[in-house]
Amino acid sequence: MTPPPGSLLVAEDLRKAYGPTLALDGAGFSIHPGEVVAVMGPSGSGKSTLLHCLAGIVQPDSGSITYAGRELATMSDAERSALRRSDFGFVFQFGQLVPELTCVENVALPLRLNGTSRKAAEKAALGWMERLEVDDLKGKRPGEVSGGQGQRVAVARSLVTGPRVLFADEPTGALDSLNGERVMELLTDAARSTDAAVVLVTHEARVAAYSDREIVVRDGRSRDMERAI
Ligand SMILES: Nc1ncnc2c1ncn2[C@@H]1O[C@H](COP(=O)(O)OP(=O)(O)O)[C@@H](O)[C@H]1O
Ligand SMILES: [Mg+2]
Repeated sequence: MTPPPGSLLVAEDLRKAYGPTLALDGAGFSIHPGEVVAVMGPSGSGKSTLLHCLAGIVQPDSGSITYAGRELATMSDAERSALRRSDFGFVFQFGQLVPELTCVENVALPLRLNGTSRKAAEKAALGWMERLEVDDLKGKRPGEVSGGQGQRVAVARSLVTGPRVLFADEPTGALDSLNGERVMELLTDAARSTDAAVVLVTHEARVAAYSDREIVVRDGRSRDMERAI
């Protein structure tokens, strides 16, 4: 498979075994800047493993992953974590906000870890919270906000560093459909406005409908789907 020209992140023939379980069995993937790609498939099909490989969190046993022309396998662990901090953003099913910090401190955290001053970091954080319509929650702690609000705070946190790729693994999996759709609307609008690519793992067709393209994973193998509409 030749990746489309202009691809930002390309994976070919990925294999990954956990003991006797073949989580990935020749999966491929590609995405270009600003594109929202849904990774669909039943539970246990290898979606999260694919996302973790693409993000340089898990090393595949074989196959290649190229980000902006660089092969991830040739980078050191330190280089890969630096790349994750500078170029990637993450949203998981459960927001994984730090419970002791306020919402604005949570959103500001990635910038603080990169050495940005508290004042500048919280200013940028508030800007993103406004876009995700959760700025009124700035002084609250994660335990004091609803699931949908918490996920919007998590999306703001994932975008605050201006990532080129946003990895979202079942970001609405713990939400009711109304809140889930609002999170998806705000997430995809925000990503498109910054030209960030979004790798969106989901098993819900309703959520995948927010993507530009779908890839279906089954038994560790991937297939590109043509949009039916
Ligand atoms: N860290 C791990 N250790 C052992 N088995 C794993 C691990 N991660 C995933 N698997 C197995 O690999 C397969 C694919 O898992 P996963 O990528 O999480 O699927 P999905 O996200 O589509 O539900 C499953 O059979 C799962 O049990
Ligand atoms: Mg999963």
